[in-house]
Amino acid sequence: MCAVALLRVLPRTILSFARQEPSQTSDCILLAQENRNYNPGKKIERNVSMTNSNFIKTTGVITAFVAIIAAGMVNSSRHVRAHDDDDDEGEEAKIDRGFQIAPVPLDLLGKNRKLVGLGSYIVNAQSGCNGCHSTGPANEYAANGNPYFGQEQVVNVNTYLGGGRDFGPFPGPGPFPHIISRNLTPDKTGRPEGGNTFATFKAIIRTGIDTDNVHPTCTGAPDGKCIPPPFHGDLLQIMPWPVYQNMTDHDLRAIYEYLSAIPCLEGGPGEPANRCN
Ligand code: HEC
Repeated sequence: MCAVALLRVLPRTILSFARQEPSQTSDCILLAQENRNYNPGKKIERNVSMTNSNFIKTTGVITAFVAIIAAGMVNSSRHVRAHDDDDDEGEEAKIDRGFQIAPVPLDLLGKNRKLVGLGSYIVNAQSGCNGCHSTGPANEYAANGNPYFGQEQVVNVNTYLGGGRDFGPFPGPGPFPHIISRNLTPDKTGRPEGGNTFATFKAIIRTGIDTDNVHPTCTGAPDGKCIPPPFHGDLLQIMPWPVYQNMTDHDLRAIYEYLSAIPCLEGGPGEPANRCN
């Protein structure tokens, strides 16, 4: 029995080793038990019960051997399939998906294609940038393309990441400035969000610093332009930089590359007229 168990286990042990699973070799009962759980039940039980004929027994062992090898192969291919379904598919899948879901035509000239695709994936599948950086819910989607109406989603290319969504007076009703999302599209320099370099963009996302200094901290009574302490006027409000700051440099670089590839839109707070050309 123990020898049979060992024979039955051997191929699996080899397979297990290849998959770096722990294998048991010490206890025959455990081995037999493990095998019953592991495997192809019926054939093996039949082998065990036909102890009155050596010929059948031998044949049975060989059959079991083959069955175990086959089962091991099935098991390991299942393992591979599970790997495909559940584990990290790698960056290529994200890049492909990024290109599939980009709602605007992309200018890839002089850009790193892979970064653009990954950036699109991060912006359009993970970060919801356009939810805040369009002009607002009323115009985020094209006519008849609002998923919240049960329609098939069509993003409005005329507001895509162009900024201008008004979040109202901050931090609440009163003589406080409105927080308005910024235009992230590239301007005539070809660089995103108002011509910022990657270094500046990275600093903004990592620290939340508002390089445009749109709403300083109040030093006296609120005047409709400053925001009151403890809010820090040098920092972007509402914008989820405390989340995005955890991204890798590579991901931030990808977002930046993608934002360089989308079409320019006019408008947005603080932007000059004719920013596109
Ligand atoms: C919850 C809403 C929201 C989301 C989501 C959001 N933003 Fe913002 N973002 C804002 C607001 C509002 C501002 C302006 C904040 C202020 O004026 O204090 C802003 C400002 C910015 C700025 C500063 C622009 C400048 O000119 O200095 C950048 C860059 C930026 N966002 C990039 C992004 C990117 C990239 C994403 C997606 C990865 C994103 N934002 C997602 C709300 C949002």
